[in-house]
Amino acid sequence: MELFEAIRRRHSYRGPMQDQPVPREDLLRIVQAGIQAPSGYNAQTTTFVIIDDPKVLAEIAAIDPRNAILGQARALIACVAPRGAEPGSTRLFFGVEDCAAAVENMLLAITALGYASVWLDGWLRMEGRDAAVGRIFDVPQERIVRVLLPLGVPAQEEEQHPRKPLDERAWFNRHGD
Ligand SMILES: Cc1cc2nc3c(=O)[nH]c(=O)nc-3n(C[C@H](O)[C@H](O)[C@H](O)COP(=O)(O)O)c2cc1C
Repeated sequence: MELFEAIRRRHSYRGPMQDQPVPREDLLRIVQAGIQAPSGYNAQTTTFVIIDDPKVLAEIAAIDPRNAILGQARALIACVAPRGAEPGSTRLFFGVEDCAAAVENMLLAITALGYASVWLDGWLRMEGRDAAVGRIFDVPQERIVRVLLPLGVPAQEEEQHPRKPLDERAWFNRHGD
């Protein structure tokens, strides 16, 4: 799929998934797209855990049975980031931005390959879920599960959610009102 088509088609998908596994070859292509993302100082702080074992997927879904997309996911990519700057480091901390850049690259790759997903981040920040998920796949104490991307082949068509018009959000040469 052409890049601008993938950008246009990407949307958060929380609906049912087809009963079809996501081949590891595709999962690795998606994560490679995340690895290609820029990062502050090229420090490449984001690491990735790819979950395709149904038992592990079920364990994660059991953390919050109300979050239906977790129960639907045929695979899941967890983006893991440092909790903060390394002790003694004088560099600015870009762990969150590094992770966000990787996530958007992966969402576009997911769309281009015909899968659907949603950026789960707020969900992780509540009720100690980031720690609960991290324990399931042994994330070290000094790192945090920042984003989860549940994915699969969507069982229904959905449109992109609306955007404000460009002239309300972008201007040439000075910030508008
Ligand atoms: C930083 C961030 C955190 C998000 N956290 C969640 C989340 O926890 N759960 C969820 O269902 N969607 C989450 N989303 C998805 C947004 O709700 C979604 O991107 C937004 O409503 C726009 O819709 P679209 O992605 O279909 O364009 C998050 C998106 C971002 C960028």
